[in-house]
Amino acid sequence: MKGYFITFEGPDGSGKTTVATEVCKRLTELGYDVIHTREPGGIGISEDIRNIILDPKNTMMDAKTEALLYAASRRQHLVEKVFPAVKEGKIVICERFLDSSLAYQGYGRNLGFDEVLSINLFAIDNTYPDMTIYLDVDEQVGLDRLQDRSFKDRLDQESLEFHHRVSQGYREVLRRFKDRITIIDASKTKQEVIEASMKEILKLINDQNAA
Ligand code: TMP
Repeated sequence: MKGYFITFEGPDGSGKTTVATEVCKRLTELGYDVIHTREPGGIGISEDIRNIILDPKNTMMDAKTEALLYAASRRQHLVEKVFPAVKEGKIVICERFLDSSLAYQGYGRNLGFDEVLSINLFAIDNTYPDMTIYLDVDEQVGLDRLQDRSFKDRLDQESLEFHHRVSQGYREVLRRFKDRITIIDASKTKQEVIEASMKEILKLINDQNAA
């Protein structure tokens, strides 16, 4: 079977981990070879970079340094984990990818969409996901869920204005990459969001098989 690289995107509190975990379980039950991973992280070097980026004590981190670290973590994760798995015909389900950098660093940090895209094109060698599922949640609902977290990492601790700019950044991502991104209404019940995600993924696989 052909391999697939599928990413889940959305603001903090949109339910990516819950949905991706259940989707992986269901795809595995259907007999697919599935890998569930995340960014930043997913393998040793990238998890180490994640710890540096998200450590609340790193208050001195410059915005461009942050963007480069996300891109470096992305590169290593692609080379070490995603590319080989896709080549072996697996389905890679990844929480967050390029679009997160465009929204958080491009807009949240005001570095600019095209500037952040350009450093990332160097990192990804033009590899875009086969499909991206965007979990669309009302900005306030996401922020409320974020407030409920017992541990807040360095980005969770950012201002409301920052998170508002991230939401605007995602709107721009959705506008620029409409063909790749499927929007799912994440204000629905967990079961409904999981069903909708499964439907989209199975459609992608079936359409490719039929082609
Ligand atoms: P997570 O909490 O969803 O695992 O993601 C960690 C944080 O990193 C989250 O606040 C979003 C942020 N992030 C970026 O700012 N840029 C990126 O490129 C990625 C992948 C995540």
